[in-house]
Amino acid sequence: MTAPTSRTATLLTPPDLHPDMELVMRVMPMPKDANGNGDIFGGWIMSHVDLAGCVIPARIARGKIATVAVNEFVFRSAVSVGDLLSFYARVEKIGRTSITMHVEVWAERRPSDPLLVKVTEARVTYVAIDHEGQPRPIPKD
Ligand SMILES: CC(C)(COP(=O)(O)OP(=O)(O)OC[C@H]1O[C@@H](n2cnc3c(N)ncnc32)[C@H](O)[C@@H]1OP(=O)(O)O)[C@@H](O)C(=O)NCCC(=O)NCCS
Repeated sequence: MTAPTSRTATLLTPPDLHPDMELVMRVMPMPKDANGNGDIFGGWIMSHVDLAGCVIPARIARGKIATVAVNEFVFRSAVSVGDLLSFYARVEKIGRTSITMHVEVWAERRPSDPLLVKVTEARVTYVAIDHEGQPRPIPKD
């Protein structure tokens, strides 16, 4: 049996997170992802939000989906190299062929005394598509 240790390190959970929010992805940006200011490039964050946002819609749609719109995107705080980014997502609306997601990105930084900061919030809409790339109905069950 392993003796209890004080060296465990549980990752932080954001306070007041909407109960429907699910953790869908974690990633740590590297120096190659930085812009001229040394912060993480906004386009890098946007592409990861797009990836994180599609995890749940792809399951609900049970097949191919495409991003049709980024309805809202707010960079609340700069992201730094080495921040541990956690992407949380929840379904905001399911339409006939589309699913709109709310995505939040939280950065865990300063490992010596961890701090959690909400860095980005977005609303992104995905459409279920068929083999011809045309919209198809979201399965009901
Ligand atoms: C996604 C695509 C197939 C949709 O085709 P379309 O003919 O424009 O489809 P529609 O006008 O019927 O709209 C389909 C759904 O998207 C929704 N939609 C369209 N534009 C939207 C917008 N700006 N914001 C939110 N929802 C939108 C519609 O309301 C509809 O939803 P509903 O059926 O649930 O009511 C087509 O626009 C496309 O191929 N776009 C390129 C996708 C792409 O390359 N994405 C990047 C890589 S994944």
